[in-house]
Amino acid sequence: MPADIIVGAQWGDEGKGKIIDVLTGSYDVVVRYQGGANAGHTVIVDNQKYVLHLLPSGILHKGKLNIIGNGVVIELEELIKEIQTLINRGIKITSKNLMISENAHIVLPYHKILDSARETKSGAKKIGTTARGIGPAYTDKYSRTGIRIRDIFDDEKLLNKIEMNLNEKNYILKNYYGLEELSEKEIYQNILKQREYIRPFVGDTIYFLNELLKKNKKILFEGAQGSLLDVDFGTYPYVTSSNPTIGGVMTGSGISYKYINKVIGIAKAYQTRVGSGPFPTEMEKDIQQKIRDIGAEYGATTGRPRSCGWLDLVALKYVVDISGLTEIILTKIDVLSTLKKIKVCIKYEYNGKKTDRFIPDGMELYNVRPVYIELDGWMQDLSKIRTYKKLPVAVKKYVKFIEEYTGIKISKISVGPDRKQIFNKK
Ligand code: IMP
Repeated sequence: MPADIIVGAQWGDEGKGKIIDVLTGSYDVVVRYQGGANAGHTVIVDNQKYVLHLLPSGILHKGKLNIIGNGVVIELEELIKEIQTLINRGIKITSKNLMISENAHIVLPYHKILDSARETKSGAKKIGTTARGIGPAYTDKYSRTGIRIRDIFDDEKLLNKIEMNLNEKNYILKNYYGLEELSEKEIYQNILKQREYIRPFVGDTIYFLNELLKKNKKILFEGAQGSLLDVDFGTYPYVTSSNPTIGGVMTGSGISYKYINKVIGIAKAYQTRVGSGPFPTEMEKDIQQKIRDIGAEYGATTGRPRSCGWLDLVALKYVVDISGLTEIILTKIDVLSTLKKIKVCIKYEYNGKKTDRFIPDGMELYNVRPVYIELDGWMQDLSKIRTYKKLPVAVKKYVKFIEEYTGIKISKISVGPDRKQIFNKK
């Protein structure tokens, strides 16, 4: 079975970009299957920092094919900017290493404006989105009014679709939000320019991927966001609008479950959250600031400071179930090195009772109180360690505790942002 999957096992920002970059060497193809430019995958190669929003992380490797699947929502301006920036930095991007699904939907200017306008109007109840138009773009996809990549190559169809959408969107922008109407001509003309740039990359990724699988090519699926942000399984409504969990792979790329081998969950040794929504294990403010600074916990897409919390094993075990994780890669354990004691959440107290069941609801989850155990810290720099054997005993105990609770093996441990700062847990 030639397909492996990387999923974020928390609320995103688990360090997936780096892991995908490290693993890519063993694969022929890397595929993004959901989300859009709300993602921000930070990869550090030879002391150079790259932040990828839409391009699969395999783009930084020579000789790998990168596919943007049908489940992704693509903001053309952002995609072109991202490709061009990498080309300017010496990365080769051609139709040989990048393919974009003709069935992927595009994010239009009105999606971004509606995203921000809705957030502003919601005030304290806002979701805290990345303002990249993700929710409104997926809304149109499911309302069957969205514009797909394939539509932009047919002038008449494109113009009709923009017109139909703007009739509705301009009414809402003007009358509900009191904003300016958008010009149909401007949107159309812009897309005509953008489509020439992306034309060489566009193709039938669904057919192509299945052909590659039949030839036993090794494929890595790169999830964006995290499982707890899944629109079905996360802390709704404080979620994104796609399925970062395993189901998203099939609907977002067109492959069958029968090709899936490993489902690798990426989890930080603590956890973070950006945007609104419940976060039961949020740390005390002073520890949070310390962890945020050491772990550089600021959004790669928006620059927002991330809230930091203790590892929530109730949530992690839930993610093991919903995505069928076969292993976990533990990241950023080095960030905890200055703490004498480390808390881990092993149960929730909910309605006066202790439970180890996660509550997948963004309102109800506010009512749980985390039950912790405290483990010893190691108070030692881990960033230069390159073998599991050399890790302090307290780290090994921490790792073992996670494995025993979740019933899943930790396969690798990452101790810093560089490609070299990772090793197998044997
Ligand atoms: P949206 O995806 O921009 O609509 O944002 C919805 C929620 O998902 C917000 O809480 C965002 O902060 C969060 N979110 C979206 N993308 C990411 C990501 O890549 N990492 C972490 N959180 C994200």
